[in-house]
Amino acid sequence: MSRIAYVNGRYVPHREATVSIDDRGYQFADGVYEVIAVTNGRLVDEGGHLDRLDRSLSELSIAWPMSRRAMQLVMREVIRRNGVTNGIIYLQLTRGVARRDHPFPVGVAPSLVMTARRAKPIPASNLTKGVGVVTFADQRWARCDIKSTSLLPNILGKQAARQAGAYEGWMVDNNGFVTEGTSTNAWIVTDKGELITRNVSHAILNGITRLAVIQLAGDNGLKLVERPFTVAEAKAAREAFTSSTTNPIQPVVAIDGAPVGDGKPGRIALELRRAYEAATAQGGVNG
Ligand code: PDD
Repeated sequence: MSRIAYVNGRYVPHREATVSIDDRGYQFADGVYEVIAVTNGRLVDEGGHLDRLDRSLSELSIAWPMSRRAMQLVMREVIRRNGVTNGIIYLQLTRGVARRDHPFPVGVAPSLVMTARRAKPIPASNLTKGVGVVTFADQRWARCDIKSTSLLPNILGKQAARQAGAYEGWMVDNNGFVTEGTSTNAWIVTDKGELITRNVSHAILNGITRLAVIQLAGDNGLKLVERPFTVAEAKAAREAFTSSTTNPIQPVVAIDGAPVGDGKPGRIALELRRAYEAATAQGGVNG
Protein backbone atom coordinates (compact mmCIF):
# COMPACT_ATOMS: atom_id res chain seq x y z
CA MET A 1 0.00 0.00 0.00
CA SER A 2 1.53 3.36 -1.00
CA ARG A 3 1.78 5.99 1.70
CA ILE A 4 -0.54 8.97 1.74
CA ALA A 5 0.19 12.29 3.44
CA TYR A 6 -2.27 14.99 4.45
CA VAL A 7 -1.06 18.46 3.47
CA ASN A 8 -3.23 21.51 4.10
CA GLY A 9 -6.56 19.98 3.18
CA ARG A 10 -5.39 17.43 0.57
CA TYR A 11 -4.50 13.75 0.71
CA VAL A 12 -1.50 13.23 -1.57
CA PRO A 13 0.94 10.41 -2.30
CA HIS A 14 3.71 10.70 0.28
CA ARG A 15 6.42 10.97 -2.39
CA GLU A 16 4.65 13.92 -4.01
CA ALA A 17 3.77 15.71 -0.76
CA THR A 18 5.42 19.14 -0.55
CA VAL A 19 5.18 22.38 1.38
CA SER A 20 6.23 25.85 0.30
CA ILE A 21 9.85 26.95 0.76
CA ASP A 22 8.32 30.02 2.43
CA ASP A 23 6.68 27.89 5.12
CA ARG A 24 7.80 29.29 8.47
CA GLY A 25 8.41 25.76 9.67
CA TYR A 26 11.08 25.44 7.01
CA GLN A 27 12.42 28.98 7.44
CA PHE A 28 12.40 29.33 11.23
CA ALA A 29 11.29 26.00 12.77
CA ASP A 30 8.25 28.11 13.69
CA GLY A 31 5.98 25.19 14.42
CA VAL A 32 5.00 22.37 16.73
CA TYR A 33 4.37 18.66 16.41
CA GLU A 34 2.95 15.56 18.03
CA VAL A 35 3.71 11.87 17.62
CA ILE A 36 0.82 9.64 18.65
CA ALA A 37 0.99 5.86 18.75
CA VAL A 38 -1.58 3.68 17.01
CA THR A 39 -2.06 0.32 18.74
CA ASN A 40 -4.53 -2.27 17.44
CA GLY A 41 -5.98 0.48 15.25
CA ARG A 42 -6.60 2.87 18.16
CA LEU A 43 -4.89 6.14 18.94
CA VAL A 44 -3.10 5.87 22.27
CA ASP A 45 -3.79 8.67 24.76
CA GLU A 46 -5.20 10.83 21.97
CA GLY A 47 -6.78 13.27 24.42
CA GLY A 48 -3.50 13.87 26.24
CA HIS A 49 -1.63 14.48 22.98
CA LEU A 50 -4.26 16.90 21.68
CA ASP A 51 -4.27 18.77 25.00
CA ARG A 52 -0.50 19.12 24.79
CA LEU A 53 -0.76 20.24 21.16
CA ASP A 54 -3.26 22.88 22.22
CA ARG A 55 -0.85 24.07 24.89
CA SER A 56 2.15 24.19 22.50
CA LEU A 57 0.10 26.15 19.95
CA SER A 58 -1.22 28.61 22.47
CA GLU A 59 2.24 29.21 24.01
CA LEU A 60 3.42 30.22 20.51
CA SER A 61 0.20 32.06 19.53
CA ILE A 62 -0.39 29.74 16.57
CA ALA A 63 -4.07 29.15 15.80
CA TRP A 64 -5.64 25.71 15.36
CA PRO A 65 -6.06 25.22 11.60
CA MET A 66 -9.42 23.47 12.20
CA SER A 67 -11.53 22.33 15.11
CA ARG A 68 -10.24 19.59 17.38
CA ARG A 69 -13.07 17.34 16.18
CA ALA A 70 -12.15 17.93 12.52
CA MET A 71 -8.50 17.22 13.33
CA GLN A 72 -9.52 13.92 14.92
CA LEU A 73 -11.42 12.98 11.78
CA VAL A 74 -8.43 13.80 9.56
CA MET A 75 -6.16 11.77 11.83
CA ARG A 76 -8.42 8.75 11.46
CA GLU A 77 -8.56 9.19 7.71
CA VAL A 78 -4.74 9.39 7.47
CA ILE A 79 -4.44 6.21 9.55
CA ARG A 80 -7.05 4.48 7.40
CA ARG A 81 -5.55 5.52 4.08
CA ASN A 82 -2.13 4.28 5.20
CA GLY A 83 -3.46 0.99 6.54
CA VAL A 84 -1.77 1.53 9.90
CA THR A 85 -2.91 -0.82 12.66
CA ASN A 86 0.23 -0.55 14.78
CA GLY A 87 2.45 2.46 14.23
CA ILE A 88 2.43 6.19 14.65
CA ILE A 89 0.78 9.28 13.30
CA TYR A 90 2.86 12.45 13.02
CA LEU A 91 1.23 15.89 13.10
CA GLN A 92 3.11 19.06 12.28
CA LEU A 93 1.60 22.53 12.50
CA THR A 94 3.45 25.69 11.55
CA ARG A 95 2.63 29.38 11.56
CA GLY A 96 2.08 29.14 7.81
CA VAL A 97 3.51 30.46 4.58
CA ALA A 98 4.73 34.05 4.34
CA ARG A 99 7.56 36.10 2.83
CA ARG A 100 10.58 35.55 5.10
CA ASP A 101 10.42 38.13 7.87
CA HIS A 102 10.87 37.51 11.59
CA PRO A 103 7.68 39.00 13.08
CA PHE A 104 4.48 36.95 12.92
CA PRO A 105 2.77 37.39 9.53
CA VAL A 106 -0.72 38.86 9.56
CA GLY A 107 -3.71 37.07 8.06
CA VAL A 108 -1.82 33.84 7.33
CA ALA A 109 -3.40 30.44 7.95
CA PRO A 110 -1.34 27.86 9.85
CA SER A 111 -0.03 24.87 7.87
CA LEU A 112 -0.94 21.32 8.84
CA VAL A 113 0.81 18.17 7.68
CA MET A 114 0.05 14.64 8.86
CA THR A 115 1.77 11.37 8.03
CA ALA A 116 1.33 7.88 9.39
CA ARG A 117 3.55 4.85 9.27
CA ARG A 118 3.73 1.34 10.55
CA ALA A 119 5.76 0.68 13.70
CA LYS A 120 9.41 -0.21 13.29
CA PRO A 121 9.90 -3.37 15.36
CA ILE A 122 11.86 -2.69 18.53
CA PRO A 123 14.82 -5.12 18.72
CA ALA A 124 14.08 -7.93 21.20
CA SER A 125 17.45 -7.32 22.88
CA ASN A 126 16.23 -3.87 23.97
CA LEU A 127 14.09 -5.62 26.55
CA THR A 128 16.11 -8.74 27.24
CA LYS A 129 19.46 -6.94 27.54
CA GLY A 130 18.52 -3.27 27.97
CA VAL A 131 20.32 -0.30 26.44
CA GLY A 132 22.96 2.25 27.39
CA VAL A 133 22.70 6.02 27.64
CA VAL A 134 25.41 8.66 27.67
CA THR A 135 25.19 12.07 29.33
CA PHE A 136 26.11 15.51 28.06
CA ALA A 137 25.25 19.17 28.61
CA ASP A 138 21.72 20.26 27.77
CA GLN A 139 22.20 22.96 25.15
CA ARG A 140 18.52 23.66 24.47
CA TRP A 141 16.50 26.83 24.86
CA ALA A 142 14.55 27.75 27.99
CA ARG A 143 11.12 26.49 26.81
CA CYS A 144 11.59 22.74 26.38
CA ASP A 145 8.00 22.27 27.58
CA ILE A 146 6.80 23.37 24.12
CA LYS A 147 6.87 20.53 21.58
CA SER A 148 8.55 22.65 18.94
CA THR A 149 9.99 21.32 15.69
CA SER A 150 13.16 23.22 16.60
CA LEU A 151 15.16 20.12 17.57
CA LEU A 152 18.76 20.88 16.62
CA PRO A 153 20.29 20.18 20.07
CA ASN A 154 18.17 17.03 20.30
CA ILE A 155 19.33 15.60 16.99
CA LEU A 156 22.97 16.53 17.67
CA GLY A 157 22.64 14.82 21.03
CA LYS A 158 21.01 11.71 19.59
CA GLN A 159 23.71 11.47 16.94
CA ALA A 160 26.46 11.84 19.56
CA ALA A 161 24.78 9.10 21.61
CA ARG A 162 24.56 6.77 18.62
CA GLN A 163 28.20 7.44 17.71
CA ALA A 164 29.09 6.50 21.29
CA GLY A 165 27.19 3.22 20.78
CA ALA A 166 24.36 4.31 23.08
CA TYR A 167 20.61 4.21 22.56
CA GLU A 168 19.92 7.64 24.01
CA GLY A 169 21.61 10.75 25.38
CA TRP A 170 20.53 12.15 28.73
CA MET A 171 20.93 15.90 28.87
CA VAL A 172 22.27 17.54 32.01
CA ASP A 173 21.51 21.07 33.23
CA ASN A 174 24.03 23.58 34.62
CA ASN A 175 23.50 22.25 38.14
CA GLY A 176 24.36 18.67 37.21
CA PHE A 177 20.76 17.41 37.13
CA VAL A 178 19.42 15.26 34.29
CA THR A 179 16.68 17.07 32.38
CA GLU A 180 15.53 14.33 29.96
CA GLY A 181 16.61 12.28 26.96
CA THR A 182 16.90 13.78 23.48
CA SER A 183 13.50 12.27 22.57
CA THR A 184 12.48 10.54 25.80
CA ASN A 185 11.87 11.26 29.49
CA ALA A 186 14.35 9.92 32.04
CA TRP A 187 13.57 7.78 35.08
CA ILE A 188 15.42 6.03 37.88
CA VAL A 189 14.46 3.67 40.70
CA THR A 190 16.39 4.32 43.90
CA ASP A 191 17.80 1.78 46.35
CA LYS A 192 14.68 2.32 48.46
CA GLY A 193 12.50 1.36 45.49
CA GLU A 194 11.28 4.93 44.84
CA LEU A 195 10.49 5.87 41.27
CA ILE A 196 12.03 9.24 40.38
CA THR A 197 11.45 11.43 37.33
CA ARG A 198 12.09 15.11 36.91
CA ASN A 199 9.24 17.42 37.88
CA VAL A 200 7.46 19.33 35.13
CA SER A 201 8.84 22.79 34.36
CA HIS A 202 10.06 24.70 31.31
CA ALA A 203 13.16 22.42 31.39
CA ILE A 204 11.46 19.27 30.06
CA LEU A 205 8.70 18.09 27.76
CA ASN A 206 5.84 16.69 29.82
CA GLY A 207 5.73 13.35 28.03
CA ILE A 208 2.35 11.76 27.53
CA THR A 209 3.99 8.40 28.24
CA ARG A 210 5.53 10.01 31.35
CA LEU A 211 2.02 10.89 32.52
CA ALA A 212 0.84 7.37 31.77
CA VAL A 213 3.73 5.87 33.76
CA ILE A 214 2.89 8.16 36.69
CA GLN A 215 -0.68 6.91 36.58
CA LEU A 216 0.39 3.26 36.31
CA ALA A 217 2.89 3.67 39.15
CA GLY A 218 0.05 4.90 41.36
CA ASP A 219 -2.22 2.05 40.27
CA ASN A 220 0.53 -0.44 41.13
CA GLY A 221 1.31 1.01 44.56
CA LEU A 222 4.76 2.33 43.63
CA LYS A 223 6.13 5.37 45.45
CA LEU A 224 6.79 8.15 42.98
CA VAL A 225 8.74 11.35 43.55
CA GLU A 226 8.87 14.02 40.84
CA ARG A 227 12.20 15.79 41.35
CA PRO A 228 15.50 16.36 39.56
CA PHE A 229 18.24 13.73 39.99
CA THR A 230 21.97 13.95 39.29
CA VAL A 231 24.03 11.78 36.97
CA ALA A 232 25.82 10.34 40.03
CA GLU A 233 22.48 9.39 41.60
CA ALA A 234 21.37 7.75 38.34
CA LYS A 235 24.58 5.74 38.15
CA ALA A 236 24.04 4.54 41.72
CA ALA A 237 20.35 3.75 41.11
CA ARG A 238 18.87 0.27 41.23
CA GLU A 239 17.16 0.74 37.85
CA ALA A 240 16.86 3.32 35.11
CA PHE A 241 14.62 3.63 32.07
CA THR A 242 13.30 6.00 29.45
CA SER A 243 9.74 6.68 28.34
CA SER A 244 8.35 7.88 25.02
CA THR A 245 5.55 7.28 22.56
CA THR A 246 7.70 5.30 20.14
CA ASN A 247 9.25 2.99 22.77
CA PRO A 248 7.08 3.33 25.86
CA ILE A 249 9.33 2.02 28.64
CA GLN A 250 12.89 1.15 27.74
CA PRO A 251 15.15 -0.29 30.47
CA VAL A 252 18.56 1.43 30.73
CA VAL A 253 21.37 -0.81 31.98
CA ALA A 254 24.40 1.47 31.56
CA ILE A 255 25.06 5.18 31.99
CA ASP A 256 28.29 6.52 30.46
CA GLY A 257 29.50 2.92 30.31
CA ALA A 258 28.92 2.22 34.03
CA PRO A 259 26.35 -0.50 34.85
CA VAL A 260 23.08 0.48 36.51
CA GLY A 261 22.16 -1.92 39.34
CA ASP A 262 23.11 -5.44 38.30
CA GLY A 263 23.46 -4.36 34.66
CA LYS A 264 20.21 -6.08 33.65
CA PRO A 265 16.77 -4.61 32.81
CA GLY A 266 15.05 -3.68 36.08
CA ARG A 267 12.06 -5.48 37.50
CA ILE A 268 9.98 -2.34 37.97
CA ALA A 269 10.73 -1.07 34.45
CA LEU A 270 9.61 -4.39 32.96
CA GLU A 271 6.50 -4.49 35.14
CA LEU A 272 5.56 -0.96 34.14
CA ARG A 273 6.08 -1.87 30.50
CA ARG A 274 3.74 -4.84 30.79
CA ALA A 275 1.14 -2.67 32.55
CA TYR A 276 1.51 -0.03 29.86
CA GLU A 277 1.06 -2.55 27.07
CA ALA A 278 -2.08 -3.90 28.72
CA ALA A 279 -3.51 -0.37 29.06
CA THR A 280 -2.66 0.73 25.51
CA ALA A 281 -4.44 -2.27 24.05
CA GLN A 282 -7.54 -0.48 25.44
CA GLY A 283 -6.63 2.97 24.00
CA GLY A 284 -4.21 4.21 26.62
CA VAL A 285 -4.02 5.42 30.18
CA ASN A 286 -4.97 9.09 29.86
CA GLY A 287 -7.56 8.98 27.11
N1 PDD B 1 9.61 12.51 21.33
N2 PDD B 1 11.18 14.46 25.74
C1 PDD B 1 11.46 14.84 24.48
C2 PDD B 1 12.51 15.87 24.27
C3 PDD B 1 10.75 14.28 23.40
O1 PDD B 1 11.02 14.67 22.14
C4 PDD B 1 9.78 13.28 23.66
C5 PDD B 1 8.98 12.65 22.55
C6 PDD B 1 9.54 12.90 24.98
C7 PDD B 1 8.51 11.86 25.34
O2 PDD B 1 7.21 12.37 25.13
P1 PDD B 1 5.99 11.39 24.79
O3 PDD B 1 5.92 10.41 25.89
O4 PDD B 1 4.81 12.30 24.76
O5 PDD B 1 6.28 10.76 23.46
C8 PDD B 1 10.25 13.51 26.00
C9 PDD B 1 8.83 12.09 20.18
C10 PDD B 1 8.36 10.69 20.29
C11 PDD B 1 9.64 12.37 18.93
O6 PDD B 1 10.23 13.45 18.89
O7 PDD B 1 9.63 11.58 17.98
